[in-house]
Amino acid sequence: MSVATKKTLVELNVNGADVACAFNANKTLLEVLREDLDLTGTKHGCEMGHCGTCTVLVDDEPVLSCLVLALEATGHKIRTVEGLALGPRLHPVQRAFLECGAAQCGYCTPAFLVTAAALLERTPGASRDEIKQALSGNLCRCTGYTKIIEAVELAGLRMSEGGRHAAASDAPGTVNV
Ligand code: FES
Ligand code: FES
Repeated sequence: MSVATKKTLVELNVNGADVACAFNANKTLLEVLREDLDLTGTKHGCEMGHCGTCTVLVDDEPVLSCLVLALEATGHKIRTVEGLALGPRLHPVQRAFLECGAAQCGYCTPAFLVTAAALLERTPGASRDEIKQALSGNLCRCTGYTKIIEAVELAGLRMSEGGRHAAASDAPGTVNV
């Protein structure tokens, strides 16, 4: 077996569960999430660290998964857009994106959702400037950003009033895109 096809068996903690998977040591976290774990909510974009569309949370901090080897994520808590909702209940940021029309084509949306969730779970009362700063690494080609920022403000208001799932919803539609 050549070095190029030699796989390493690794255990990753993804969305609260320990999962064992075997992959080439040179695969990025983005590739392993999408290709080996079928978590396709996280999107490929530039793969150069410029667009933010591959963002996931590692130990509750936004990380560009195209720039991280999956092996580097062992021993850390990985959270993707698929892990935002609590069962059928949408995370407040997902609910607010639906209500505000903050997703258009939706390609950038998973990254915005996890980035906003990380901010608001740490700072529910984040100001508009803090929201803009937190989202500054995420590009959107469709929305012009206004509705995205309004949605994050709405989710933050609800979370500061009642906790992470204060405005969670049992709505059947999700914004995992
Ligand atoms: S795909 Fe990772 S920053 Fe663009
Ligand atoms: S909604 Fe289309 S790129 Fe953001």
